[in-house]
Amino acid sequence: MLKIMHVVGARPNFPKVAPIMAALAKQPDRFDQLLVHTGQHYDYNMSQIFFEHLEMPAPDAYLNVGSGSHAAQTAAIMTSFEPIVLKHRPDCVVVVGDVNSTVACALVCAKIGVRVAHVEAGLRSRDRTMPEEINRLLTDQISDLLFTPSKDGNENLIREGVDLAKIHFVGNVMIDTLVKLLPKALQRNKLKEFNVEAKEYILVTLHRPSNVDDPTVLRGILQAMVEISEDVPVIFPVHPRTRSRIHDLNESLPKQTLQLVEPLGYLDFLALMNGAKLVVTDSGGIQEETTYLGVPCLTARPNTERPVTLSEGTNRLTGSNCHGLVGAARESLRRPSGSSRKPDLWDGHAAERIVEVLHKM
Ligand code: UD1
Repeated sequence: MLKIMHVVGARPNFPKVAPIMAALAKQPDRFDQLLVHTGQHYDYNMSQIFFEHLEMPAPDAYLNVGSGSHAAQTAAIMTSFEPIVLKHRPDCVVVVGDVNSTVACALVCAKIGVRVAHVEAGLRSRDRTMPEEINRLLTDQISDLLFTPSKDGNENLIREGVDLAKIHFVGNVMIDTLVKLLPKALQRNKLKEFNVEAKEYILVTLHRPSNVDDPTVLRGILQAMVEISEDVPVIFPVHPRTRSRIHDLNESLPKQTLQLVEPLGYLDFLALMNGAKLVVTDSGGIQEETTYLGVPCLTARPNTERPVTLSEGTNRLTGSNCHGLVGAARESLRRPSGSSRKPDLWDGHAAERIVEVLHKM
């Protein structure tokens, strides 16, 4: 019997861990599993609602670390996580994605000799000003098993000198969740609630520090959203970091066409993404989900760690400049979307492939 401990902390972690836990639960004679929630995200609609929508078991341990500077948050996660690992002595700790909880827990395990598996390994933006890029580089260097979502991940890891035997191309676990829950999401009739018709609105999300923490950049992006909303209604679920920065700007925004709403749960956001004419975002995961759904996506960043969404999918990089964003959005609204395909192994079965590798371990 292998004892597997999973770590979640922030919103994008939940849809990655859910399918792995579900796949392991199908083999109770082989695997025993535990879930640790660091508490990096703690608001109901940033955390608990995902447990409900994704039908995840309640965490076995909740570390309640909350917010703080990178150093304070990472240190708090490490200090609280270490005794949990020492108490349970798992055979392997599974960390996902690129948030502070990912690198903090991987580092604890590496120092006390507990094996780490990193899911979503190998992605690189090559932009070290992004906190997530630092988290990705470090986590991959100290992990024992590296599960990549796309082949570029393998290439990056090999270039960095990672032992080939550690690398497993398994596909995208977040797409497993999407494939499973899309039918349920569509039953919820969310579009009516927002008073929009399918393919007649734009969905926006923003939370990267580089976009929201600098008032000039944020003001430019909001101005772009206001201009675009004069053509097509815009729905903008606002991340808590972004809400506080918008509040600091102290500017009024037109409420008729630009709907600023609270962050949404998994199912409702998925339904809105699927129904959108266009998505504008700076998230990583949303670039992948729109590619799978075939919905055009503009990414308000100069780079992406998910190049397969550009080469095979529906994604396009626009940067964060107001005119650039408005121009790209208008062009995308005018033109029928070009051809795209679903990247290899984004097929709803990535978690099963991970479980097979864990079993062989
Ligand atoms: C974190 C991740 C980022 C991920 C994002 C998804 C890191 C370095 N960043 O960014 O990679 O894309 O989550 O959402 O790990 N806050 C609340 N309630 C919450 C959580 C946060 O109000 O439940 C507010 C706090 O003011 C906090 C701020 O949001 O200081 C930022 O939270 P934090 O977890 O530090 O980073 P995110 O911007 O959410």
